[in-house]
Amino acid sequence: MTNDPDQIARIEVYLNENLSPARFRHVLGVREVALTLAKRHGVDIAQAELAALLHDCVKELPDDELRGLAKRHGLQVDEHEQQTPGLLHGKVAPFVVAERFGVNDETVFDAMRRHSTGAVEMGSLDQVLFVADFCEPNRTYTAAAEVRELAGHDLEAAVLEVMQFKLRKTLLKKQPVHPDSFHAYNALVDKRIKNRTD
Ligand SMILES: [Fe+2]
Ligand SMILES: [Fe+2]
Repeated sequence: MTNDPDQIARIEVYLNENLSPARFRHVLGVREVALTLAKRHGVDIAQAELAALLHDCVKELPDDELRGLAKRHGLQVDEHEQQTPGLLHGKVAPFVVAERFGVNDETVFDAMRRHSTGAVEMGSLDQVLFVADFCEPNRTYTAAAEVRELAGHDLEAAVLEVMQFKLRKTLLKKQPVHPDSFHAYNALVDKRIKNRTD
């Protein structure tokens, strides 16, 4: 299945109007990598395209608006998100997307919700977006190219690489680790240790 080209065109216009040029380029880069990874790993390409295009659609909203949208939709906001509302962008995006574009695919929404931190339970679409967000071609750090290469043959190993990279960066900056990142990392490491010993 592919997406309706008219809907994709409407989404692209919206993104172009509501994101900075650099972020818009990022989103298009995420789509490119997400589609490649989806094809490689047997993930639905229509869902991969939607999740990639829409994952950062509210990233540039002011803090107050993000807080307001979270409140209006009854989203639980933790202390980290209260302090840094930008952390909410993945969780708030599905509400905006449902209203504006009529998308109501929970698998796509979950991938959007989990794209920054990862999650304890990650499906293959979640993994594709999590990795593509990190390693799309506009990302210039060397780890991006390494992760892109790794993701081609071992998506889960690429997810772990990304988690480790993000955690290291957070620790080096002496910033707090969001509990979702911490739990997601532990769950994946536990799973890989268990699989090795089975
Ligand atoms: Fe994001
Ligand atoms: Fe992103």
